Amino acid sequence: MLILGIESSCDETAAAVVRDGRTVLSNVVYSQSDLHSSYGGVVPELASRKHIETIIPVITEALGQAKVSIAEIEALGVTQGPGLIGSILVGLSVAKSLAFVRRIPLCGVNHIEGHVAAVFLTQEVPSFPFVALIVSGGHTQTYLVRSLGDLTVLGRTRDDAAGEAFDKAAKMLGIGYPGGVVIDRIARQGNPGYHRFPRAMPGSLDFSFSGLKTSLFNLLRKRGGVPEGEELADLLASYQEAIADVLLEKTLLAAESCGVRSVVICGGVAANSRLRERFRGEGSLRGLNIFIPPAVLCTDNAAMIAVMAEEHLSRGRRDGVDLNAFSRSPSG
Ligand code: KG4
Ligand code: ZN
Repeated sequence: MLILGIESSCDETAAAVVRDGRTVLSNVVYSQSDLHSSYGGVVPELASRKHIETIIPVITEALGQAKVSIAEIEALGVTQGPGLIGSILVGLSVAKSLAFVRRIPLCGVNHIEGHVAAVFLTQEVPSFPFVALIVSGGHTQTYLVRSLGDLTVLGRTRDDAAGEAFDKAAKMLGIGYPGGVVIDRIARQGNPGYHRFPRAMPGSLDFSFSGLKTSLFNLLRKRGGVPEGEELADLLASYQEAIADVLLEKTLLAAESCGVRSVVICGGVAANSRLRERFRGEGSLRGLNIFIPPAVLCTDNAAMIAVMAEEHLSRGRRDGVDLNAFSRSPSG
């Protein structure tokens, strides 16, 4: 099936054309990060207005790059939630209109399930069941995945998501937005053993990142300002290491508790180079199969939404024009 995927749940306006849930013909992402960078985070009202301006050009570009016309599209997949409600409604309204006018099936997709589905666009795909770590700006959770769309929560964050821990640290340090991308870049030159940040809730499947953030805040206050150069790189490498350690330990614990040997990492933070390196290294030591999509499929995109839509549609799901957005995931 030739599916047009649409994603607008946060600050990326995205459209993609995917054939049979496997072949990406185009994957266009317009990032609003420049618009939000001076605020150090996403401003919901600005985000939805920008989605309105960019959604049609982004869809047109996706069709153009895929060399298909809208008449050839056989179904629409669109993010229904969780995310910023005003932003989601933009993509959802456009998808509904297109489906109605073209008389083709429409399918709402859970953004979290979409992140997991991204792994099926890679060369080597995992077999079910597997454990997935979904680690993004809004979510840090581990799931047991029995099939696409059948996710059982194993561990979740009690406070901030890992992406927030990156973004809030970058904001505190005044080094740019989105924080994860900036920290990843600067930390490459740093020494992860420079400072020992706390690793919260050892032995539990749940996560907590607020103490880590406070610990950085206290360190900066004691030091009397933001370090620069080599010291900044060392500090960031140490901070990033604390996040990577916790994500790794708890995900492997989750896999062990379910007796599965395949682990998938997805969501924006899975683009982090150190995290990828740590998972690959530890995975090969322990004989686990680690699957991490390429960075462009980890951060928000519409190709992953099209894959998940293909799965739902193949099982007979069809949504109508009454399809509604939701801001929080029913699964937490
Ligand atoms: O999945 P995503 O694009 O959007 C949400 O659904 O939230 O994730 C965005 C998050 C942001 O917190 C961003 O700082 C983080 O992913 N991120 C990274 C990297 N690239 C994006 N964090 C660490 N290292 C990266 N390279
Ligand atoms: Zn996301």
